[in-house]
Parts: sequence; structure tokens; C-alpha cells
Amino acid sequence: MPRKIIIDTDPGQDDAVAILLALASHELEVLGLTCVAGNVPLDLTVRNARIVCELAGRPDVPVFAGCDRPLSRDLVTAEYVHGKTGLDGITLPDPVMPVQDRHAVDFLIDTLRAEAPGSVTLVPIGPLTNIATAMKRAPDIIDRIAEIVLMGGGCFEGGNVTPAAEFNIYVDPQAADIVFRAGVRLTVMPLDVTHKALTTRPRIEAFRALPGRVGPAVASWTDFFERFDMEKYGSEGAPLHDPCTIAYLLQPDLFRGRHIHVAIETTSELTMGMTVADWWGVTRRAPNTFFVGDLDADAFYSLLTARLARL
Ligand code: RIB
Ligand code: CA
Repeated sequence: MPRKIIIDTDPGQDDAVAILLALASHELEVLGLTCVAGNVPLDLTVRNARIVCELAGRPDVPVFAGCDRPLSRDLVTAEYVHGKTGLDGITLPDPVMPVQDRHAVDFLIDTLRAEAPGSVTLVPIGPLTNIATAMKRAPDIIDRIAEIVLMGGGCFEGGNVTPAAEFNIYVDPQAADIVFRAGVRLTVMPLDVTHKALTTRPRIEAFRALPGRVGPAVASWTDFFERFDMEKYGSEGAPLHDPCTIAYLLQPDLFRGRHIHVAIETTSELTMGMTVADWWGVTRRAPNTFFVGDLDADAFYSLLTARLARL
């Protein structure tokens, strides 16, 4: 039986690769994509999600528009990383498939209520505004969520949008605080692991060499996406953040982490959105996340490349 998932997303080139990996994997059933404002404004994340579905030959995947701003803070976007469209690097046709009429938050609530308790996994790879809004509006869904596997935060790697905060958490810290306190089984892919999943040149060329349209499109996206991080970190590629969540669902043994307590800074502007990760257990607070710190990067890219070849 495939594992039922909902991907909550702000595409973003790395979101796009995560969505493609999920759609290429028979172990997963993508019930829908719920879009949120993040890397680019909501209208563009909704457009981009449909572009990715059509690139994968999957116009049947329902795409929902969600929250267009954080719970209480102003929206911060990341065109400086992802480009004006959010999918810069290659120009793909305008999407034809429709956006669903239902709001993404209603889809999350309705689906969690309709599906068997503990049968749906949420995979948030953008700011957590949709997820937190659904939890606030319908607390009964919290116990029905099988697991949340999200990309966000950082510990020893610090932040990527401030010295303390990673983008997804920084954009909506109040939403992240709700999610991290909810008591749901929570697996976190922070910068500590995603910064070890770099798009090196041989890995990008392996994408480009794939038959069909998907591999070359992914290569063009990662060519564009990596320039910012390489300049900033002097690394030999960019961290492919969001696909780590999907790869974890497919092959968890590629990842290593620790059950720890993580709290979200929501008060100080200096450290706003910081994931305060108690890696050494000094607070004695009960663990609330499986916080991932390492992966087998070669195996991750072999899995990703092999699955993209199926599309
Ligand atoms: O900090 C990386 C995260 O922010 C990724 O999800 C990327 O897509 C952006 O949303
Ligand atoms: Ca994202």
C-alpha cells in the first residue's frame, strides 16, 4: 500500500525536485499539493506547482492555493535565490491544469478527517502557515496526522536568512511554534543535513544526461539555484534542501539523526525563527522531533537520479 502524503510547498526549484521525486515513486501516493507563500508570492507558488505536475505528466494531482502571508508577520520572499518566477533556470509552458476551488487549509482538514487516522503524512517544505492554520482551525486533526516530515531549521549550521534562522521557519515563526508544540510525530530536515546534499557538477550532469524532459529541466534549475549558495558558502554546489524529506520517506536509512527537543524563537527579533535545538539534552525537555544531522549524499543522489529517470 503506498504511503499517503500531502506536500505543502512554496516552489522554488528545490521544492520542484522534491515534488518530482515523490511523483516518480510508487511507494508514495501524493493526495495533493497545498501551496503557501514563501520563496515567491502565493500566485507564483500555485503556478509553479502546476508547472511541475505537468512536467511530470501528472495534471491529475490536485493543487490547492493556501495562505498568502504568515500568521502575523509580513511576508518575506526569496527571489534573490529562486529568481523572479521562483523557477528560474528554464522557461516551461504556462500551466493548463486547474487550481482546485477549495482552500488548501480546508483540503488539509477535510482529508485528515476523511482518511483513516494515522494514514496521512504531511510533508511541509515551505513556511508552516497552512499547517498551523489547519491545526488552529481544527485541533481534532492533530491526532489524525501520521507524521510530519518537514524541511526547516538548523542547529550547528545556524541560519541561512539570518545568522540564527533558516528561511522556512523565519518566514512564519509563530506557525512553526504551533507545529513544533502540537505533539505530532515530527521529523525535521534542517540545514545541518541539507548542506551535506550539494548539487556538485557531476551530480547535475547526471541529471542533464537523463532521457526525456525532466532531467534536463532539473539540471537547469539546479544550475540556476546553486549560484547563490556557492557565492555565499564557497561550496562546490548548492544544498538540495526539500528533496531530503521525500528521500527520507523512501529510504530512511540514508539519514542519521537524534530525538531531541526543539523550540522556536518567537520573541527576540535578533534570533526570531531560530530552531533552538537541544542536541546535547541539556534542558531535560522531552524530545519532540527526530532532528536529522547527516545523510549518505552519494546514495541520496543515486536514488534521486534513478527516480527522475522514471518520469
Ligand atoms: O531554507 C531552505 C528552504 O527555504 C527550502 O524549502 C527552500 O525551498 C526555501 O523554501
Ligand atoms: Ca521550499
